[in-house]
This record gives sequence, C-alpha cells and structure tokens, in this order.
Amino acid sequence: MDSLASQIAVVTGAGRGIGRAIALKFAHAGADVVCISRNPDNCGKVAAEIVALGRHAWPVALDVSDAGAVEAAAGKILADCGRVDVLVNNAGVTRDGLLMRLDEAEWDTVMDTNLKGAFLMTKAFTRAFVKQRGGRIIVISSVIGLIGNPGQANYAASKAGLIGFTKSVARELASRGITANIIAPGFIETDMTSELSEELKATVLRQIPMGRFGSVDEIAEAALFLAGPAARYITGQVLTVDGGMVM
Ligand SMILES: NC(=O)c1ccc[n+]([C@@H]2O[C@H](COP(=O)([O-])OP(=O)(O)OC[C@H]3O[C@@H](n4cnc5c(N)ncnc54)[C@H](OP(=O)(O)O)[C@@H]3O)[C@@H](O)[C@H]2O)c1
Repeated sequence: MDSLASQIAVVTGAGRGIGRAIALKFAHAGADVVCISRNPDNCGKVAAEIVALGRHAWPVALDVSDAGAVEAAAGKILADCGRVDVLVNNAGVTRDGLLMRLDEAEWDTVMDTNLKGAFLMTKAFTRAFVKQRGGRIIVISSVIGLIGNPGQANYAASKAGLIGFTKSVARELASRGITANIIAPGFIETDMTSELSEELKATVLRQIPMGRFGSVDEIAEAALFLAGPAARYITGQVLTVDGGMVM
C-alpha cells in the first residue's frame, strides 16, 4: 500500500525510537524522507536503511532549537527536494526533576527542544506549504501534556504547549488545504522509557487498561494515517495512542 507515493516527508528526531519508526513507515508507504537528528551517525544510519528500501533519503544533522540552523536547513531541504509534503515534529527530550529541584537550564532545554523546535520547524516550512496549497503537519506530544506527571513539569508544559500551538496552526492554515494534528503517545518502548525503574514501570502498567507499553510501530501507524489521504478532512485533533491510559 503506497499511500505516500511520490510524497516527501521531513521527520525530526528520526535517528532513534519513534522518529526512526515513522521515517521507515513512511518510506515503506512510498515516501522519500528527510531524516533529522542531532547526531549525524543516527540520522545517517536511518537514511541508509531508507535508501536500502529503494527510496530517496536525506540525512540532516540539526539542532531543532537553533533558529539560524533551522532556517538554513529548511532552505537547503526545499532546494534539494523541490518540495515537502509532510512535516513530523517528533524531536523531544526529557530533563526530569521535582519542581523544587528543577533548575532553569532543565526547563529551558526541554522547552527549547520540544516546543520552540516545533515552532521553528513549522514556521520554516509553512511558506512552502501555503505556496503549494497543501501539506500535513504532525506533532508528537504526549499523554503527559494532557494529564501532567510528578517530576515532569517542564516536559508536561512543553507537550501541552504543543497542543495549543498545533491547534492554532490548524486554524490558521486550514483554508490553504494544510492540516495540523497531534499524536499523544502513552508509554512507548524506546530509549526514553528504558531508563525508568522497574518499580515505576510496574506503576505505569497498572494505569494502562491494555496492560502493556506501546511499540514505536503503533505510533508510526497513527502518523501514517494522519499523513495519508484517509485523513484529509481531519485537522486540529489530538489522537491519543496509549492503550486506553487517558480516556
Ligand atoms: N517514548 C515514549 O514513551 C514517549 C511517550 C510520549 C511521547 N514521546 C515523544 O515522542 C518523541 C520521540 O520520543 P522517543 O522516545 O523516540 O525519544 P528518543 O528515543 O530519545 O529519540 C529522540 C530523538 O530526538 C532527537 N533529538 C533530541 N533533541 C533534538 C534536537 N534538539 N534537535 C534535533 N533532534 C533532536 C534525537 O536525536 P539524536 O538521535 O541525535 O540523539 C533522537 O533521534 C519525543 O517528542 C517524545 O517526547 C515519547
């Protein structure tokens, strides 16, 4: 099923975890993919996997919180690829700590990467989307942005901020044929969650009606749906993919 045939997608945080799964899922669906991560080895490896599938891929080492670098990279991506059809803002980090111990640098790093990064990337491609009268913007938030979590005030604020940001973008760009939607994953098995203690994992599992963590592929399936033709009349929505954790 080539639901993204001849489409070009940009995926941030594509070097590992959920972003890697989305980049590969899109390539399997026929898309060519710009793979962005900070570490050039990580995005380079994923780009090579996509080329092995017979698609084009462009690895781009970029810090999405660096305004100048994002602007320069977006210009080069548009020049090299000719167009971009789908943007997935997935890059994200955690710097956990209880509020009384949370320092300014931990707040800033999380807000700059998760929230400002999505703003910079979306802004950088919006003119092209408007010009071509179409585009799909997908933003990876988190259930933590919906319900909060002790020790993650910075992360929850960034993820809740992404929801308000994306809904505003959806309203601004709907008349141009551009959709903007949010995926709020629950607990997914990646590097980000592998650091959790067994005790915390057991506590989290008790809150998931389906009784298991999600897989990166289950988030990639949701992204593929939102990027594909079946989702053309859906915008400004939060799609929670969490085994029933938040309902
Ligand atoms: N895992 C979960 O349970 C879960 C649940 C809800 C939401 N999410 C969200 O899903 C997204 C992906 O999570 P994940 O678990 O796949 O994370 P991950 O395994 O830690 O991978 C994060 C990716 O983001 C990239 N990245 C981080 N900071 C960046 C920056 N400043 N500029 C460019 N790229 C940057 C990393 O680049 P490098 O490869 O170069 O390090 C890496 O490729 C995040 O937004 C996260 O908040 C995850």
